[in-house]
Amino acid sequence: MISTLLSRPQRGPDGAPVPRLLFGADYNPEQWSRKVWEEDVRLMRAAGVNVVSLAIFSWAHLQPGPDAWDFAWLDEVMDLLYENGVGVDLATATASPPPWLTTAHPEILPVTDRGETLSPGARQHWRPTSPVFREHALRLVREMATRYADHPALFAWHVNNELGCHNVYDYSDDAARAFRDWLRARYTTLDTLNHAWGTAFWSQRYGDWEQILPPRLAASHPNPTQQLDFKRFSSDSLKDYLRAERAVLREVTPDVPVTTNFMVMPGTKGMNYADWADEVDFVANDHYVVPGPQARDELSFSANLTSGIAGGRPWFLMEHSTSAVNWQPVNLAKRPGELARDSLTHVAHGADAVCFFQWRQSAAGAEKYHSAMVPHAGADSDLFRAVTALGDTLKTLAPVAGSEREPAGVGILFDWESWWASEQDSHPTSLLDYHREALDWYSALLSLGVRADVVTTGADLSRHRMLIAPVLHLVPAGLAKDLTRYAEQGGHLVTTYFSGVVDENDHVWLGGYPGALRDLLGIRVEEFGPLPAGQEVELDDASTGGLWTDHITVTAPSTEVLAHYRTGAYAGRPAVTRRPTGGGSATYVSTRLGADGLASLLPRLLEPAGVMSELPAEVRGSVETTVRRGPGGRFLFLVNRTDRAVTVPGVTGEVLVGGTDADGAVLLAPRGVTVLRTSTD
Ligand code: GAL
Repeated sequence: MISTLLSRPQRGPDGAPVPRLLFGADYNPEQWSRKVWEEDVRLMRAAGVNVVSLAIFSWAHLQPGPDAWDFAWLDEVMDLLYENGVGVDLATATASPPPWLTTAHPEILPVTDRGETLSPGARQHWRPTSPVFREHALRLVREMATRYADHPALFAWHVNNELGCHNVYDYSDDAARAFRDWLRARYTTLDTLNHAWGTAFWSQRYGDWEQILPPRLAASHPNPTQQLDFKRFSSDSLKDYLRAERAVLREVTPDVPVTTNFMVMPGTKGMNYADWADEVDFVANDHYVVPGPQARDELSFSANLTSGIAGGRPWFLMEHSTSAVNWQPVNLAKRPGELARDSLTHVAHGADAVCFFQWRQSAAGAEKYHSAMVPHAGADSDLFRAVTALGDTLKTLAPVAGSEREPAGVGILFDWESWWASEQDSHPTSLLDYHREALDWYSALLSLGVRADVVTTGADLSRHRMLIAPVLHLVPAGLAKDLTRYAEQGGHLVTTYFSGVVDENDHVWLGGYPGALRDLLGIRVEEFGPLPAGQEVELDDASTGGLWTDHITVTAPSTEVLAHYRTGAYAGRPAVTRRPTGGGSATYVSTRLGADGLASLLPRLLEPAGVMSELPAEVRGSVETTVRRGPGGRFLFLVNRTDRAVTVPGVTGEVLVGGTDADGAVLLAPRGVTVLRTSTD
């Protein structure tokens, strides 16, 4: 479906959509004069830009006062873009309330857990549950939808912007009221809530709904289930807001697809995007590289997870950066080749649109040092030349549009509820990092040249011969059953420390950890042995573990011990176990091995699962592969993870991007990407 949506502005002589990848940026013309707009569209044509996101932060310009409207400038921009072949992903403009609104209605401003009200003056200063904000915002949405309903440039609606980016957790009285309503809907009776929250502990029993508050700053650790429910509620509140804007848009423009830009990144765990995916007509994501040893792997992981959220279907990369951002302690410029490699890695994982923040680098404002497609230096710059070259590459890759990911042998299960629950306070360790453990497994597979799909809870597990579920902490009975069935029907499940420990209410499954998966794994953990920062234990397979250890007893006769602890409190006891099940297996890794340690362990798990690298041995680790398949054929993406040239022998197919040598081996430039069509069906 997305291929049709994304092709809206371009149709062939028979009226059928012409496949193409979209290319563009956030466009903020209100920061520039009309003369600059003329240059903008000229340069957009030169770069091959065919889509922009418009009006994201334009509320104050579009509605300068409660009853004053000014659409003339936006009409002009929409027309200009259309005349120049650029489609518009039109924002509803509700992301940043104007000063007149916050002055008249300071009660829309978010409140922190310490009771401080956030001031206006930046952006996204609104409470997701504020009825006053919603009334004003939906009025603007209706005006926008009505005005541009029939504009030929309009191809999609962009609800708000990065919902929850700065305001996911609001502890205001509005939030308290909405939280109580949400809890009533979830639990119906106070008895059920009291049981779920374990309020027998610390004299927390509630006798009236009105006594319940968000988990505001308290004398000690707030109730954990209250905290978990507040996370669920906060994600749901934004989802509800998304639905409210969408309802207006669908009423006025039923045929125009609606999306909003997700932020699938380690630092933005507040929004359960797996749960939001069905609310949008196509999934859109923003991603920014955060420097570090796994920066590139994290980009790939995020793109892969976005594909998982989109159910393997194509998605829209709404924002990334051409070079440096402005919000890290030190903002690194991208090196030659990185702009294209980053973009094409997203395409490799299913992006059918490649867009940046932003089109033209701002001269003023908080983001003036953030890179853009047109830098401060202007079009006569290496950066703009790299942008134009990328535009050409994306034209060449048009046949890829609409293709879906071909399932990989390995799936990595990414579960928002476990992310939230495993990192709560008052736990065995505060050092646990859910996302990093998942990323370590992904990095390990990349270093072995093994393709993996990152999937979310609820996905069809049977597509993967091996399923890795790192720190799957929160396991309701239904999920335990699904995983057991998966392994009994021949799947190879791998899980780690602090998995299967609690149910959906954050109550411990009793009788020995990991209660929900104990029988399946054929082990019993009596006690957790978290390690102080920097302390490690040795295993007898020459690896070392950090962060965590477990006191494990093997309970099933068939459970094999793949590695024992050699040092530490549990020296001599099992550290890594594997229980064969009817055709499959269930493996438990009780310590943090890190990406290198996992890369040493994984071959012993992959082999019985029948999963192998599809790459020649000499390039494994240097090259990332993905496969997309669709109406235009089967496409193999080879991404050079290194800074040196790499030759990949034995690959055949029609080269769309990149090159081959005289023997037909694929040549990957340093940080380069090659795309081949390996079959036409
Ligand atoms: C995003 C946002 C953009 C811009 C960008 C900078 O969070 O949607 O408006 O701020 O980050 O990296």
